[in-house]
Amino acid sequence: MINKQIQIITKSLDETQSLGEKTGKHLEPGTVLALIGDLGSGKTTFVQGLARGLDVPDDYYITSPTYTLINEYPGRYHLFHVDLYRIENHADFDDIGLYEILRNDGIVAIEWADKLPKNLLPEYLAIHIDILNDESRKIIMVAHGLREEDLIKKMEKKWD
Ligand SMILES: Nc1ncnc2c1ncn2[C@@H]1O[C@H](COP(=O)(O)OP(=O)(O)O)[C@@H](O)[C@H]1O
Ligand SMILES: [Mg+2]
Repeated sequence: MINKQIQIITKSLDETQSLGEKTGKHLEPGTVLALIGDLGSGKTTFVQGLARGLDVPDDYYITSPTYTLINEYPGRYHLFHVDLYRIENHADFDDIGLYEILRNDGIVAIEWADKLPKNLLPEYLAIHIDILNDESRKIIMVAHGLREEDLIKKMEKKWD
């Protein structure tokens, strides 16, 4: 089976934020977004847009939770922003409370999600970001579940 996916090229930080915002507007509670891409590719930038789409108040400035590991924001649904960059081993996932927030029905956006053990997430939207050049990014969203397929279908309608 081929997973449903959508590919978008963004040509600026603003365009990546707008894509995040559109995604945020269509999210169902409990959705997990697995962000995968190099340092500086735009994972945090995407989550900043996502927060806007989820009506997180503007006075929250969203940065990578590289040291705090998980940040939490109020919005239409609760947004948990996770950064696994500094995580050394799987036992730490429990310590930082990852399993607990995954049981919650907020939105969970995970940077460096490729560090998670395979099959940990029952369903999720993968967001792969590739750096094309200074200002351009190739963003591929892949549905791993029916809810995520529906999300991509809605995104396709809105994107033209
Ligand atoms: N099209 C683009 N989309 C996202 N970020 C971009 C884009 N073009 C340039 N940038 C720059 O790339 C950097 C992305 O940083 P950030 O979102 O913190 O990345 P990450 O969280 O993946 O490490 C920012 O400095 C941003 O200005
Ligand atoms: Mg980041």
